[in-house]
Parts: sequence; structure tokens; C-alpha cells
Amino acid sequence: MTTKVPVIAIDGPGGAGKGEISRAIARELGWHLLDSGALYRLVALSAIAKSADLADAQLLADLTRNLAVRFDNVGEYCRVFLGGLDVTENIRTEESGQVASVVASMPAVREALITRQRSFQQAPGLVADGRDMGSVVFPDARLKIFLTASVEERARRRYKQLKDKGIDVSLPALSKDMQERDRRDSERSIAPLRACSDARVLDTTRLSIPDVVQTVLQWVGETYP
Ligand code: C5P
Repeated sequence: MTTKVPVIAIDGPGGAGKGEISRAIARELGWHLLDSGALYRLVALSAIAKSADLADAQLLADLTRNLAVRFDNVGEYCRVFLGGLDVTENIRTEESGQVASVVASMPAVREALITRQRSFQQAPGLVADGRDMGSVVFPDARLKIFLTASVEERARRRYKQLKDKGIDVSLPALSKDMQERDRRDSERSIAPLRACSDARVLDTTRLSIPDVVQTVLQWVGETYP
């Protein structure tokens, strides 16, 4: 891993605003973006499509290594392809998120994704969004941020995102799923979701997206002047 290309690691639970903030920061700086959650969701989608046994870690690790993924940036938007199929919307369902969190608890799957994630570290810089960007994938990142928010607020945000996409969900069911996913992500033995000791923690519960972007850009200016 080259240490020269700067990395901003943005970690935190689902619905804390990581995706939107990371996109805005990458756009503002003209840096690359790694949506590592999309990779776990792609593994999930591929496993579902192949009716793979979700308890078979070796099979899932093989599937992960052979994942034919392509990220295409079209203007501001990124389309995601799996084996030539556009799955940009399919990976965003709650089912993909839940299965992603199951496969993400397997050390062999995480290991199989490490090199692929590190290959995104390219000049002029990388904004990496995930759960273990600062702790495991890019431990040398000079700026590590942990975004969080109350579970009620995170569920509300996710509900709105899905509704806006025309996906029908119930808020209580979503909130329950989110808590279950948080628990699984935080309690797993490998790369559990938590802020590393050198991360700057930002609670976004009462902050707007532009407020968070402004704070993060200030930290970026201090870290990479
Ligand atoms: O961020 P997103 O909701 O797309 O991530 C889906 C799931 O993938 C998470 O719930 C988590 O289990 C897993 N994940 C992970 N490590 C990452 C990114 C995502 O374990 N770096």
C-alpha cells in the first residue's frame, strides 16, 4: 500500500450520513471515492443470485475473490455493475443490507476484499466510506472520521431515502432491522464497528448535510494543508 496518496477514512453506522458526506467531500476535493459497503452488498447480491449457502464461509470467500464488479462514474453519479448487469438499485434494498452484514462477519470474506479496497488508493487522494476504513483497510490514513447519529434519526433518514426511491418500507420495521444490523456489525469478532482511538467523532443527529461537509472540509484543510 502506498502511503503517499492521502486517504480520508469515514466510518460509522448506517444512516449516519457517510455516503452523502463522502460523495460531497470527494466531489469537492476531486478525489476518488470508495463505497466499501457497496462491495459487501455486491457479495450479498451475488450470493443471493447463486442461492449460496450463507453459512459456507469458504464458498463466499471464493465468490468474493471472483466478483466481476465495475463502478462507472457518470457525471456525479456512480453506476454499479455485477457481471455486466446494472445493479445500482438492487444493492440498496434492505435485504441486500442484511445479507451484506451477515457475509461481512466472515473473516475470509473480509480478507478477500482487502486488496480490492486498497486498489482505490490512487492520486490525487481517496475518500473511503465504511465501517473499518480507519481501523483495518487504511490504518495509515491521517484523517479518520467516525460519523454517528441516534438510531431514531438514522432510521428516519434511511426511510426517507427508500421512500424517495419509491421503495415501500415501514419505519418501525426499518428501525428494528437497523438495530439488528448495528448489533451484528458491532459485536462481530473481526473489524467490529467502533470508532478508533485516533478518529474524530462527529454526531450528526442535529446537523444538516452542509454543516457536516463544512466541518469535515475544515478537518481536511488542517490535516492536508
Ligand atoms: O454501508 P452499507 O449499509 O452499504 O453497508 C452494508 C453492510 O456491509 C454493513 O451493515 C456492514 O455489515 C458491511 N460493511 C462492513 N465493512 C465495511 C462496509 C460495510 O462490514 N467497510
